[in-house]
Amino acid sequence: MKPIPRPAEPGEFLPENYFCRLSSSELFTREAPLEVDLGSGDGSFALAMARQFPNRNFLAVERLLGRVRKTCKRATRAQLPNLRVLRLEARYTVEWLLPHASVSRLHLLFPDPWPKARHHRRRLINAEFLGALSKVLVPGGDFLFKTDHEGYFEWATDALSFSKHFHSISWDDQSGELSGYPQTDFEAQWLAEGRSVHQLRARNLSH
Ligand SMILES: C[S@@+](CC[C@H](N)C(=O)[O-])C[C@H]1O[C@@H](n2cnc3c(N)ncnc32)[C@H](O)[C@@H]1O
Repeated sequence: MKPIPRPAEPGEFLPENYFCRLSSSELFTREAPLEVDLGSGDGSFALAMARQFPNRNFLAVERLLGRVRKTCKRATRAQLPNLRVLRLEARYTVEWLLPHASVSRLHLLFPDPWPKARHHRRRLINAEFLGALSKVLVPGGDFLFKTDHEGYFEWATDALSFSKHFHSISWDDQSGELSGYPQTDFEAQWLAEGRSVHQLRARNLSH
């Protein structure tokens, strides 16, 4: 039986075919550097970025329908044609859907840390994910990761140090292109609770 397609929310991106890689022009008709916010929650970060950088395109990826709808509503209200929302699983999106060499920056902000040892294999960052990510990032593109979980931060740092696809670079938010990097909803919550935030930035070496 064929599934009944759900109508798209305004601002939502519903791929025509989930089983083949997208072309860049399917996502946005306007050509511009593409940034992806993976696990975008209520969309505050993607909205703030889309406002701040009208000359870039943003794709927010989130699996929960309620959060997708909220982000779409906010993007429509704010009249942000450079932001679209995709309701899909994060790993699948990177491994199978995004066009190769299409993403200039991928933001992974406060993903589930899966703190129990028996759940570590569910963590998004691992060698396979980094391999797939290096293919969808443009050469020289950036992976930006933030977490409040020290164990996950060490895990990610290790995975990146073993990866031949990336090298770590400094995250300088005082000057340069990362000044004004918006705080996410979860970040604001963690900081208000007095937790520390760990961040890393890695550059794609693959060509
Ligand atoms: C802790 S929240 C962080 C949200 C946002 N990045 C922030 O910092 O405010 C993690 C988000 O990732 C989404 N998420 C978790 N696993 C996911 C997956 N496998 N694919 C897509 N989204 C996922 C959750 O639904 C949730 O909205």
